[in-house]
Amino acid sequence: MNRKFKRTTVTAALPYANGPVHIGHLAGVYVPADIYVRYLRLKGEEVVFICGSDEHGVPITIKARQEGISPQQVVDRYHEMIKKSFADFGISFSIYSRTSSKVHYETASAFFKKLYEENKFIEKTSEQFFDTEANQFLADRYITGTCPHCGNERAYGDQCESCGTSLNATDLINPKSTISGSQPVLKETLHWYLPLDQYQPFLNQWILEENKNWKSNVYGQCKSWLDQGLQPRAVSRDLDWGIPVPVDGAKGKVLYVWFDAPIGYISATRELTPDWEKYWKDPETRLIHFIGKDNIVFHCIIFPTMLKAEGSYILPDNVPANEFLNLEGDKISTSRNWAVWLHEYLEDFKGKEDVLRYVLCANMPETKDNDFTWKDFQSRNNSELVAILGNFVNRTLVLTQKYFDNKVPEITGLTAYDQEVLAEIPRIKENLEASLDNFRFRDALKEAMNLARLGNKYLADTEPWIVIKSDKERVKTILNVALQITANLSIIMEPFLPFTIDKLRKFINLRDAGWNLLGNAEILKPGHLLNKSELLYEKIEDEAIEYQLQKLARSKAANEAAKSPVKPGKANISYDSFATMDIRTGTILAAEKVAKTKKLLKLTIDTGLDKRTVVSGIAEFFEPENIVGKQVCILANLEPREIKGITSQGMILLAEDKGGKLVFVTPENNVGNGSEVK
Ligand code: MF3
Ligand code: ZN
Repeated sequence: MNRKFKRTTVTAALPYANGPVHIGHLAGVYVPADIYVRYLRLKGEEVVFICGSDEHGVPITIKARQEGISPQQVVDRYHEMIKKSFADFGISFSIYSRTSSKVHYETASAFFKKLYEENKFIEKTSEQFFDTEANQFLADRYITGTCPHCGNERAYGDQCESCGTSLNATDLINPKSTISGSQPVLKETLHWYLPLDQYQPFLNQWILEENKNWKSNVYGQCKSWLDQGLQPRAVSRDLDWGIPVPVDGAKGKVLYVWFDAPIGYISATRELTPDWEKYWKDPETRLIHFIGKDNIVFHCIIFPTMLKAEGSYILPDNVPANEFLNLEGDKISTSRNWAVWLHEYLEDFKGKEDVLRYVLCANMPETKDNDFTWKDFQSRNNSELVAILGNFVNRTLVLTQKYFDNKVPEITGLTAYDQEVLAEIPRIKENLEASLDNFRFRDALKEAMNLARLGNKYLADTEPWIVIKSDKERVKTILNVALQITANLSIIMEPFLPFTIDKLRKFINLRDAGWNLLGNAEILKPGHLLNKSELLYEKIEDEAIEYQLQKLARSKAANEAAKSPVKPGKANISYDSFATMDIRTGTILAAEKVAKTKKLLKLTIDTGLDKRTVVSGIAEFFEPENIVGKQVCILANLEPREIKGITSQGMILLAEDKGGKLVFVTPENNVGNGSEVK
């Protein structure tokens, strides 16, 4: 659609505040949304970028129950954590709010009330499971029972995880409440329904006819929903966590989380600015929702129907949903701890935020599910960011420093080749814009990297480090051209690699440069003084990748172990062979990390026999200062072994839990050092 618009409202799906965020979130929603928003801002367009935590819904109450804390404590913890992760990765929201905010309660209640008063809902009574002991209705997830399809005795009221079938709670054989364990009874309850069926003609026209330009995965999913025929959908629930239904006599009922959450976009905008209405009600505003594929029906069908029913809002112009990102060939899963958590990534790769942004953009699951692997992460860093972008920029800056005192040299005469190279820049810009305008972020990034490739090739072809010996005048032109390419890179890469570009802009001493300068071959004027530069990227070594793979291997092992509770037993041995082991109690006198290793601690142990050094692979599980004074058991007659240049005399006994975590085997009472363990 070529509708004229004045401004853009960009939303990114509100993540549930029931756990931290991982690379799948980033690749699917927040990196593309951020790239897009940064691009619009660079072009000088008016844009708001809206997000926040989704703090209602059953999963949050379940998490709270599991951990023995209140739902409010759950959302407080994860809201802060998620907010920080996004900030750490440079996701440049105009506001990151939350659906427990006062403004949101008011906005969502008023929204519901308006539709209620205008009779836009239908009221219907249905039978729902009720726990008579706990005196509450049960969400489907709070009911377990036997799956009628496969006989799994621990199927949930909405799904059997053993055979994957979607279920209704009433399908379960021998249903049980997970709250009290009692058998629930069916009880009548009244709810409000959004009559999607009444809006079907409008939706058919609006989506199937007017939005044929939506991504094919999005359009296809909408079409299949519409083809099946829409049914009225309940927008309230019997639950004690959420926004109360603002209607007399609706005690114990709250708004369904998928009714309140998208209104959260509006509430957050209200919180951001008193002038919020122009972002939601002006037909000259373009509304774009960035989401993952599991959110398509809510953003393309249900929320637009709510907005349409309300009557004063604009509808989304586009919903560029992504598919899912897998990790090392396997579905990302919180319960199986099969994920790269953003806060953990930062512990291991501080300062490499852009590397992850880059790799996730390059592998973005735009049209189909895609895979993240640590090897690919390493190779994209080493052979693309380091070898192409970093290398080009570094060579250009170092040579300018060396030959021209860090001042931009003048053009002494452009060759045909120089002109050809410079003419490439506007062409790259055009391709890149076409990709970004159509939400093709992978292509866009490739095109942006083509500019760095062009620069690299230009230096390789012109060889200023050789020409300098015979023709310094020519080198002036070469480096001027290379510096103009660098300045253009500092614009074109900003949406993708904001941290890198922050640095680069400082190096080339270029403050505000907007998109309008892109393609220009005279961004840096002759005589312009540059600053000192450093390398933009560093190589990632095999060791760091191995460490990540081992972490994942531990998750896998823990999952396997959880399936088969304990490792199989070993073959019998004689008492005599046991008695050859000299196991003693001892005390840790000192502990320190072994330099350049992640796993090893060097311990000094008082064994009663002597004081000796033991190297132990426990650094991931204990802080050295916390274990000094601890009593342990040590295999004292293990042959001494050289580990990282340290002679280790003995081995500390440890027990390994299912998750691969190690704990000390410690005598129940202090028995003094040197006591025999037998
Ligand atoms: N919390 C939902 C999820 O993580 C997304 C909510 S998006 C909103 O899947 F539109 F409802 F806000
Ligand atoms: Zn089943």
